[in-house]
Amino acid sequence: MKNFLTVLTAIALFGLIACEGPAGPAGKDGATGATGKDAGFVYFEGFKADLKCATCHAPNDVDTTFRVITKSTQYETSGHKELGNYDRNTTTCAGCHTNEGFFERTTRGVANETFTLNAASGPMVNQNYYSSSPVGCFTCHTPHKRGDFTLRDTVGQVKIFSLVAGNTTKTFTGNTTAQLCVKCHQPRMTSQFLIGTTNLSWQPDPTKTGATDTAKIYTSRWNNHVSGEGIQTLLGFGGVEFAGYTYSSSYHSTALQNKTLDCADCHMATPIGNKGGGHTFKVGYIPEGSTTTSYNFAGCNTTSCHGTSGAITSTSAKWATVRAEMTGKIRQLASIMMDSTVVGKWTVKKAGKFNPWITMTVSTTTGDTSYAANANTGTNVLQIIPAAKAGALWNLQMAIYEASHGIHNTAYTRSLLDASIAELKK
Ligand code: HEC
Ligand code: HEC
Ligand code: HEC
Ligand code: HEC
Ligand code: HEC
Repeated sequence: MKNFLTVLTAIALFGLIACEGPAGPAGKDGATGATGKDAGFVYFEGFKADLKCATCHAPNDVDTTFRVITKSTQYETSGHKELGNYDRNTTTCAGCHTNEGFFERTTRGVANETFTLNAASGPMVNQNYYSSSPVGCFTCHTPHKRGDFTLRDTVGQVKIFSLVAGNTTKTFTGNTTAQLCVKCHQPRMTSQFLIGTTNLSWQPDPTKTGATDTAKIYTSRWNNHVSGEGIQTLLGFGGVEFAGYTYSSSYHSTALQNKTLDCADCHMATPIGNKGGGHTFKVGYIPEGSTTTSYNFAGCNTTSCHGTSGAITSTSAKWATVRAEMTGKIRQLASIMMDSTVVGKWTVKKAGKFNPWITMTVSTTTGDTSYAANANTGTNVLQIIPAAKAGALWNLQMAIYEASHGIHNTAYTRSLLDASIAELKK
């Protein structure tokens, strides 16, 4: 109701110049409106000349052009809105976690961002945005300035960085919608773990197999910040690829890069109310009155995809078998890292005691493993010799945080898990 009143007030204020007649006189700020610092976010990039407010802001919020209400309702249950981490609003975080920070990045050109290993770099912004709003309609679209819902930033070719020694930055060749997603769903380079002069954590490196090569890990967040594993997995790189194993990728990886598939095909498929698909961005959702997850397979089963080659269902092999296999392998690898008789061989003891590599919990409902290496932070450094073996810990997190249980790129996730399990059992 409050929002509706704000809109009404705004319509009343701007109505004279914006809603009436073919072309009213330009307002005092000119045709596109003020962009001054006190103009407020909605107004920050101005209104298109002659914009008709009621195209989108109709009584009862029911417009018949864009059906904004339907998207807004779906969006309420999107992780962007629901999860609430938009308090991550300082220079190193705001570029992805806030509406305002992303706007700053787009004004500079997101695709031009550069990454440096041991420096704060990548998706950085120049100021803290303490008063920030969550990623929302105006992050991805620019309805007031253009009067439509085209995507705000369609400049492609985002660079996807990797922290693993020997990997080079990949330029992502996917279509513009997917490019928009990976502007934020990419690794972040500003974590403390490879920068700074003290407590410098070791760079994952599969070639460090010597008897004195020591990995020192000071942080529980020795990973790609949970935002990078998805796109890296989809591209089939970014894991620690131990020598002597084969690493391959599934068709999803090829299709994403040659523009026949994008994130939205699966995550924004034909919506199921406000539960899954569309602007919920969800594949998995909990139906009313249920405690188990259902999935929106509309994106999988289109005619050009699995619609013609055997539909995906919650029990089909390409879904159930793959997900069970990955869940099982993740759990197996995690258990090894808790087992002193196995990883004790590679671990430097503390006060005569073995420090497990990780602590973990396994969900009794989903069988999912949650990782929290909280035993090894600060001065309680985890030391692994030879250093290459620590790559298994990196790969465990790749598999957990790519977050699709192998659906993004079954072959690559399987390769990393199999190689890591075999390496630790040697
Ligand atoms: C092309 C569609 C479109 C047009 C045309 C449009 N708006 Fe909006 N406007 C939006 C959307 C989408 C939102 C965000 C709604 C949401 O968050 O669910 C919004 C939000 C707003 C808000 C903020 C409301 C709040 O939630 O705080 C104001 C104020 C506003 N618009 C005023 C106007 C005015 C005045 C005009 C005409 C000059 C106008 N809009 C024209 C799409 C439009
Ligand atoms: C490159 C863009 C990007 C930057 C920069 C970034 N994040 Fe994130 N962050 C994300 C994305 C995307 C997710 C959601 C990933 C998912 O759920 O798959 C996320 C998730 C999170 C989460 C929830 C998951 C968790 O680990 O508990 C927290 C907390 C978080 N970020 C904190 C931060 C902080 C603090 C900073 C700055 C120091 C930061 N982020 C910088 C993109 C970014
Ligand atoms: C994270 C990015 C993102 C956010 C946030 C977002 N959208 Fe979208 N929106 C998209 C993408 C991508 C498409 C194209 C969908 C597709 O390819 O099926 C789209 C499509 C649309 C369309 C259809 C465009 C057309 O004319 O065909 C409308 C309307 C729309 N969005 C409204 C909204 C509204 C309203 C909000 C806020 C409640 C919102 N969007 C938030 C990414 C976003
Ligand atoms: C402006 C940056 C940004 C853009 C663009 C963006 N996202 Fe996100 N996304 C985030 C952040 C940040 C989070 C985590 C929110 C939180 O933890 O509060 C997130 C969360 C999500 C989640 C929920 C994750 C979870 O753990 O439940 C999904 C799914 C998602 N995004 C998909 C997409 C898709 C698909 C696109 C492209 C159409 C997209 N996002 C575009 C920043 C972005
Ligand atoms: C082939 C379909 C497909 C494509 C393409 C795809 N995803 Fe996913 N993604 C999934 C599935 C399936 C899940 C697991 C959903 C679940 O378990 O609820 C998932 C999970 C996620 C999650 C974890 C949050 C969640 O809702 O579980 C994020 C974030 C995410 N994907 C982002 C992306 C981004 C960004 C892209 C594009 C770079 C992308 N995905 C491309 C199918 C896909």
